[in-house]
Amino acid sequence: MSNEAKLELDGKSYTLPTLTGSEHEKAVDVSALRANTGYITIDDGYGNTGSCVSNITFIDGDKGILRYRGIPIEELAEKSNFIETAYLIIYGTLPTRAQLKVFSDQLTDHQFLHEDMKYHFQGFPTGAHPMAILSSMINAASCFDEGLMNWKWGKNQQFDTYVAKLTSQVRTIAAYSYRKSKGLPLIYPKQDYKYTANFLHMMFSMPYEDFELKPEVVKALDLIFLLHADHEQNCSTSTVRMVASSQANLFASCAAGVCALWGPLHGGANQAVLEMLDEIHRSGDDGSKFITAAKDKNSGKKLMGFGHRVYKNHDPRAKIIKVACDEVLSKLHITDPLLDIAKKLEEAALKDPYFVERKLYPNVDFYSGIIMRAIGIPVEMFTVIFAIGRMPGWIANYKEIMEEPKSRIYRPRQIYTGKTMNHYLPIEQRK
Ligand code: COA
Repeated sequence: MSNEAKLELDGKSYTLPTLTGSEHEKAVDVSALRANTGYITIDDGYGNTGSCVSNITFIDGDKGILRYRGIPIEELAEKSNFIETAYLIIYGTLPTRAQLKVFSDQLTDHQFLHEDMKYHFQGFPTGAHPMAILSSMINAASCFDEGLMNWKWGKNQQFDTYVAKLTSQVRTIAAYSYRKSKGLPLIYPKQDYKYTANFLHMMFSMPYEDFELKPEVVKALDLIFLLHADHEQNCSTSTVRMVASSQANLFASCAAGVCALWGPLHGGANQAVLEMLDEIHRSGDDGSKFITAAKDKNSGKKLMGFGHRVYKNHDPRAKIIKVACDEVLSKLHITDPLLDIAKKLEEAALKDPYFVERKLYPNVDFYSGIIMRAIGIPVEMFTVIFAIGRMPGWIANYKEIMEEPKSRIYRPRQIYTGKTMNHYLPIEQRK
């Protein structure tokens, strides 16, 4: 069987090469289409467009499979932790004991921000959204580092240092963003705390009293980071690659990823889920009225935390997090009316032909919000938590595009449907 695609266009015949991935995914390569035929392809929302080849993450949305560097998410969730998984995603293999020690030590060495950055935090008004502060401050961090200001694309001997800096400092910036948004004093990281424990310390300790670190809370948050660590070419990761393709520095590219993640159709969904559950609870609905509204296109409502562009069977992360959610709530002895509503919504939607026919299942955001609420993370920090978790994926994608010898600037085309040529009218002649 030929592995070339045939295209008939304007009475001419063309052959297009195809390629197959290591998990047998297939693509028609249209890279030379415009040069050969004068045509471009149109693919609204990029649903059929592969923007790159990548070795990092494999997803089979029909089968509900997610693997980082070939390892199933279920195995990593059970046996690994966020920092080891971050190393795997960024560097391609699980670290040896020695490699993990070097990586962890580097994260500790770079966890402090430049002291002068504190004055930038002061400039934000109390109540500013922590996602706005996070993206601004990741970008601002570039200004305090000569290496980032004079970034050498592909030739940076210090690249691994910047990987550690960004992975570590995103957590410090995120915690400071929260403290600033609440008008609370900033809490410095501790040398002897591990990654996730240190984040909780910077979020919740007070100058006069350290936050009590419950192991089940640290474990649950670490799992949330791990489950979000990469998800191939989603909106924010594609944004990072897009910005990186212009050879912007690592921090600038990842700051753009934070902005893309903020929207409610992407990372902002976990916050939207909680707001939806709260709205249902306050209105006295058991979820059934909301489900009816979510099916009505004129209502402006959607069942937040349901549906996914890629997963059309189940989201494997949602399965893991649902179990973790039950576990953490029972260990902390928390009963939450919003969790009861979430369970009712899920049960009702999974039986409802509207959701079944459209293959709309709960996604990771549906349950992660409940866990974060249970462990005391405020709603406006939910998307920030997602950003900390996604940082290894963004960094790995940045590294991949930087190390690709033939990488060129991302520059899509368009079909123009505006006015054809017309002329400038002096203002007195305009109606
Ligand atoms: N509630 C109600 N209806 C939904 C829905 C939801 N959460 N998600 C999708 N649909 C409907 C659409 O209205 C559309 O209906 P139609 O075929 O009658 O027009 C159909 O399902 C297909 O949806 P579409 O918008 O084409 O899917 P998409 O791939 O473009 O979008 C999401 C995927 C994730 C953006 C979308 O499902 C969504 O908005 N979900 C809620 C937000 C969310 O949880 N995002 C987190 C993603 S991890």
